[in-house]
Amino acid sequence: MDRFRIVGGRQLEGRVQISGAKNSALPCMAAALLSREPVTLHNLPYVRDIITQRRLLEDIGCTILMPELRTLKIDASSVDRFEAPYELVKTMRASVLVLGPLVARFGQARVSMPGGCAIGERPIDLHLAALEKLGAQVYLDGGDVVARASRLRGAEVYFDRVTVTGTENLMMAACLAEGVTTIYNAACEPEVRDLAELLSKMGAHITGAGTSTIRVEGVDRLRGAEHTIIPDRIEAGTFLAAAGITGGSLELSNCCPEHLTAIIDKLSETGLKIEQPSSCCLRVYGDGRLKASDVTTLPYPAFPTDMQAQYMALMTQADGASIITETIFENRFIHASEMRRLGANITINGRQAVVRGPTRLMGAQVQATDLRASASLVIAALAAQGETTINRVYHIDRGYERIEEKLRTVGAEIERIRQ
Ligand code: EPZ
Repeated sequence: MDRFRIVGGRQLEGRVQISGAKNSALPCMAAALLSREPVTLHNLPYVRDIITQRRLLEDIGCTILMPELRTLKIDASSVDRFEAPYELVKTMRASVLVLGPLVARFGQARVSMPGGCAIGERPIDLHLAALEKLGAQVYLDGGDVVARASRLRGAEVYFDRVTVTGTENLMMAACLAEGVTTIYNAACEPEVRDLAELLSKMGAHITGAGTSTIRVEGVDRLRGAEHTIIPDRIEAGTFLAAAGITGGSLELSNCCPEHLTAIIDKLSETGLKIEQPSSCCLRVYGDGRLKASDVTTLPYPAFPTDMQAQYMALMTQADGASIITETIFENRFIHASEMRRLGANITINGRQAVVRGPTRLMGAQVQATDLRASASLVIAALAAQGETTINRVYHIDRGYERIEEKLRTVGAEIERIRQ
């Protein structure tokens, strides 16, 4: 398992190109299952989860070409298997995104029930209840979820709580259902809107994507399409925090500032200067002095849970106490114990973490446990004195493209030790 070796204390200076959004690419790849005609996706991030999703689609019969590194042409005309097996789902829960499209187009799907993961139990009960509302028979069989339907029928579906992939699964299934589906309490994330963009290009009739009420008028079939994935707002936020903790200045290109308003507002409150020189670029300047500021994670457009760990790392260097409240996942503070090994002063009380700073961080051996926790340890290591080794960086490779190369080009002392 690869490790990162980081020597902290260097200010980041320079320009970083933001990659495409993993959490948009994954549902958009699944959406290709809805059509017999090929779907071409551009600006895909070259990360492990995309490779896993590609393997899953090929295993069920898709033909996938990669005309260039970040473009996939997915042809689902000869799909002849309808299942996502345990060994794939256990490595990537987002495999569950094939459930809606498979039931909608082929009337059947078998997806291994995703287990919990480091950040929480993460059930898919809301996905399944929604498909049942559209007329699917759903039952458990040997750890797999089996869903069957002769033809899905549109319905009114109210999600008890906001679910991003639940909204995406239902929206995709509804595209081929008979009649109209209205989704209430839908997720408003930009990735949901991006998926709706692709589905509309494929001939779906969707209104309201990006708001909490989405209306889908089912059609008989969808055509192929070409689509460019939106930039990754969480990668952009991660680099803003990395610049801030080192007191450096970065220019982020190929990003979408309007998707980061809550992140930009919160980081500006801590004293970072963030400018928007154009619609696809951000500039951030840190002067080394940071102010503590409380944050609560909530569904979009509020501050995202996927930035919570990175923000915690930043607050270890802020002057004062900041209270971080995590409302989305029940166990998303695992990174705190690893940060304490670096010298951070963090106390956890249920869904709240109190970070007291500034504390001098000293390099040490730490362990990555999930994707965003790994990113937060990289950020903390950039500010730590001396050398930090981060083990199990395969977690970070799931969602960040070549992060060590991007950081090195802007002055970080970081290397990957392959094992
Ligand atoms: C998506 O996960 C993202 N993943 C996550 O990003 C992100 O943290 C999360 O949304 C929240 O924004 C992808 O888009 C591939 P949810 P998802 O369904 O859809 C509970 C990353 O780092 N819930 O919005 O799985 C659930 O347990 C990853 O890139 C149910 O109870 O999250 C959680 O507490 C991590 N029943 C809350 O809802 C359900 O059926 C929100 O989960 C579904 C969800």
